[in-house]
Amino acid sequence: MKGLILSGGKGTRLRPITHTRAKQLLPVANKPILFYGLEAMAKAGITDVGIVVGDTREEIQAAVGDGSAFGVKVTYVHQKEPLGLAHAIKVSRPYLEEDPFVMYLGDNLIRDGIRTYVDEFRSDTGHCHILLAKVQTPQEFGVAELEDGRVTRLVEKPMEPKSDLALVGVYMFNNDIHDAIDHIKPSARNELEITDAIQYLVDQGDEVRSKIINGWWKDTGKLEDILEANRVILSGLKGKIEAEIGEDTRVEGPVSIGKGTRVWNSVLRGPLIIGGDCRIEEAFIGPFTSIHNGAEIRNSEIQHSIILENSSIVDIGSRIESSLVGKNSEIRTASGPPKSMRFMIGDYSRIEVC
Ligand code: G1P
Repeated sequence: MKGLILSGGKGTRLRPITHTRAKQLLPVANKPILFYGLEAMAKAGITDVGIVVGDTREEIQAAVGDGSAFGVKVTYVHQKEPLGLAHAIKVSRPYLEEDPFVMYLGDNLIRDGIRTYVDEFRSDTGHCHILLAKVQTPQEFGVAELEDGRVTRLVEKPMEPKSDLALVGVYMFNNDIHDAIDHIKPSARNELEITDAIQYLVDQGDEVRSKIINGWWKDTGKLEDILEANRVILSGLKGKIEAEIGEDTRVEGPVSIGKGTRVWNSVLRGPLIIGGDCRIEEAFIGPFTSIHNGAEIRNSEIQHSIILENSSIVDIGSRIESSLVGKNSEIRTASGPPKSMRFMIGDYSRIEVC
């Protein structure tokens, strides 16, 4: 059985961060989202994994390499334009050959992994398996309708959803899916939708088996989702401190700190993670915060946030929360008069001041 991780897509809802970084490489608890998917594949015993890449392929290849760090062998498939999930399968056909495979959307995070679902599919590759989860906003997802537990209809982002069961971004297919994809037409958003291809299978009389997942799952398309994912992953954090911490610093709860980081006169209230080579001084770092390598937090307070590499937050009077700060950014109090706010921010940024 093969794995196929989709890692094209532009991440428009996460601009400006995704102007300079593939959305699948955004870190959650200081680890790129995509890596959780690769680990889930390896844990499910899938070692032959294709990654479909688009415009950000160089960055993804540089981060993942040949996959050996994850215990898998990675083959890259280039999808020149993001023309839909079913299109991604179409361009991957030479890699997939006739094998059954598990498709995993690279921006999805499933806390408990996929092993049990893959094991079930292994013993039942005669059918296509999908995973479903109850959601509050089904109109933002592919939605499944069931009758006596059987999938009868799938609709991509319906305006008036008939159920609250969303398609999770993990699908298990045998080679019947290729014929289905050959029979569907692009949707209104000009994409070959996997939802339509699965509906074609249903219409042909193929049984599509579904499983409602109980554990936590997220499609990390928006800032709020990334922060929630960060919260959920940090909730399971086991603290590990590999850094120099002054006696004037108080550490509470699970806290992880990487090598080369120095902490003075601060309060660190976990769960939180701080990478390597950071400088934390006179700071309060509160729960559910991830601070990436090389960052600096001085004379400031922050909680429930993600700070990316080499950014600095200095002398900020009010507590920062629920924020995502991109790499190499600076937030500091302006020096000297006039007493005013000064910004240099990228396109599609959002700043909220009080
Ligand atoms: C895609 C699928 C949708 C599914 C979702 C899960 O949507 O088209 O059916 O529910 O992934 O993450 P997208 O995130 O591409 O809008």
